[in-house]
Amino acid sequence: MTIRFDRVSLTFPGATRRAVDDCSCEIAAGDLVVILGPSGCGKTTLLKMVNRLYEPTSGSIYLHETAIREMEVTKLRRKIGYVIQQSGLFPHMTVAQNIAVVPKLLDWPRTKYQSRIDELLKLIELPPEEYRNRYPGQLSGGQQQRVGLGQSFSWRP
Ligand SMILES: Nc1ncnc2c1ncn2[C@@H]1O[C@H](COP(=O)(O)OP(=O)(O)O)[C@@H](O)[C@H]1O
Ligand SMILES: [Mg+2]
Repeated sequence: MTIRFDRVSLTFPGATRRAVDDCSCEIAAGDLVVILGPSGCGKTTLLKMVNRLYEPTSGSIYLHETAIREMEVTKLRRKIGYVIQQSGLFPHMTVAQNIAVVPKLLDWPRTKYQSRIDELLKLIELPPEEYRNRYPGQLSGGQQQRVGLGQSFSWRP
């Protein structure tokens, strides 16, 4: 799925400078892209506009040629995996429940998401029998991050 930024700028209310200034670029499916720059240069703000936590002040973002502002926000966000620096896992849910959040929202049948959970746990090298029913607080930081990664892939076919 191609993501395209077309002259995207964002000025926060009351700010004198643009947080993101006239960004244009295209990222094709399968590309691995690193956004690099000093603290405060606008990296997080740029990414937050992709799932519409912020709306650009000007310019547009396209997913597969559809302007994301035309898309329903929940549908857009379900297509986006997002692994944040701190663990973004739900602390009151087990590893399996965390991974299954989006598949459940998408109404996958139970057998399908159960086998997906095991498949992903193997992929992130957490043996399912041992880790499926643990809570995030019972994992190391790195293991939590890997579950976050599994969570972000969970809905992929
Ligand atoms: N919610 C906000 N309201 C106002 N200003 C913000 C907000 N979020 C970020 N900024 C400002 O926008 C600029 C870019 O921030 P950010 O995108 O978080 O930078 P980084 O590249 O470190 O991720 C910074 O000057 C920051 O202070
Ligand atoms: Mg940042």
